[in-house]
Amino acid sequence: MTAERFRPGYHFSARRNWLNDPNGLVWYDGEYHLFYQHNPYGTDWGHMSWGHAVSPDLVHWTELTPAIVATDDEHVFSGSVVVDHRNTSGLAIDDRPAMVAVYTSADPVTGWQAQSLAASHDRGRTWHRYDRNPVLDIGSADFRDPKVFWYEPDRCWVMVVALAAGHIVQFYASDDLVNWRHLSDFGPAGASSGLWECPDLFPLTIDGQTVWVLVVSVATGAVAGGSGTQYFLGHFDGKSFVVQDPGHDGEVGIAPATWLDFGADYYAAVSYGDTPDGERVLIGWMNNWGYAAATPTEAFRGSMSFPRVHRLARVAGRLVLTQQPVPALESLRGDSFEYGDLELNDGVHELPNHKYGEQLELHATFRPGTAERFGIRLRETEVGYDIAEGSLYLDRTKGQVGVHPDFAAVHSAPLGLHDGTVVIRLLVDMASVEVFGGIGEAVITDQIFPQSGNHRIELFAEHGTVAIEQLRLTTLPSTL
Ligand code: FRU
Repeated sequence: MTAERFRPGYHFSARRNWLNDPNGLVWYDGEYHLFYQHNPYGTDWGHMSWGHAVSPDLVHWTELTPAIVATDDEHVFSGSVVVDHRNTSGLAIDDRPAMVAVYTSADPVTGWQAQSLAASHDRGRTWHRYDRNPVLDIGSADFRDPKVFWYEPDRCWVMVVALAAGHIVQFYASDDLVNWRHLSDFGPAGASSGLWECPDLFPLTIDGQTVWVLVVSVATGAVAGGSGTQYFLGHFDGKSFVVQDPGHDGEVGIAPATWLDFGADYYAAVSYGDTPDGERVLIGWMNNWGYAAATPTEAFRGSMSFPRVHRLARVAGRLVLTQQPVPALESLRGDSFEYGDLELNDGVHELPNHKYGEQLELHATFRPGTAERFGIRLRETEVGYDIAEGSLYLDRTKGQVGVHPDFAAVHSAPLGLHDGTVVIRLLVDMASVEVFGGIGEAVITDQIFPQSGNHRIELFAEHGTVAIEQLRLTTLPSTL
């Protein structure tokens, strides 16, 4: 076993050392920035700093030197970056607008947390802490992860930030990124089983109507165990966020809180600001606080999800959030193999032995017959659909390296049929499987650490028949 055996081929990981939450996701001047919680000195959580990578397309990343580094009395916790084009902060130099990082200063000794600023005038290469930090201090040890965006109707900045132990998201407004006024609080609501962290708020439209999405990460007790990410749909009027109850709005039919991802390894997901195409793209940390310190890698620890585009859709009369890999996935694609019209009857069908390798995309359309369960087996992992449960599932209980007692589990997501079919799309990398079901309304993200190097891909049906109308396998060569 080499130290790099579980190094992702096309998901971002730091060359060395620990990584957790994505931070400061913003597009600026031709580059997507990915900052991240990083320990520059080791493979465990500590000395929290902002690591940094840039990409022209969200799939090919170049790691740069860490952007904002911990000091003895300030750890640099999660936060966001805005580009202050209007120079509201007065931090521009000549005609160069400032990129402004809004992050949580955490005192490693006292635990005190407050919101602070840092600025860059060279496309994020070097950063200077603001000399009057912090800019928002409520004397709390539990106040973190500011996400800031420009709210055009009121021409001001809005900050969404968590009171973690209280299960509350607070909203603040500012004209200059320096002086903040409290607007309102939201919560507790939905899943409050663990600390609330890394909130995000953004609008999406459907049929000309705007719906706001509030994303909140929950540190323990999430759907697949340990940490996970939930979302609420509702209204934001520049002051407060209100969940829209389906019972009170027959027209829109907004659902209460649900999970953004039903796997165990999707946390602290936040969205990009200023995307050139206006799409809402999120990246999550592909890990779980329950066992993040125990994953079997050596030089590095932790990686990001594949970036995903989010849309609203109506499924069975209900408004839901859908996710799909960003279209730039296209540029990674290698060889493709198509299969059509396979009929399985209570058995296993091994796909012809092409050299698929370990990094691939699989896109399959199943038409259920009489089988109770059907799906795909690869890399000691089973991804399938259970008819009686009406759910998509991922089973990583067998043949995996023993990471932690909580790791071996089956994770499932509710998914209905679309025109009598089940569409399953997988992104498989060296140590992860991301499952997108239906039109992307059911998503499961799980790390995998298969014991064997077997590359077999099998289709299976249990107790009856299933037709595979279409199946495409595409290799995804490394971007490293
Ligand atoms: C979420 C989190 C944040 C915090 C950061 C520290 O994973 O706990 O709330 O800012 O990680 O690394």
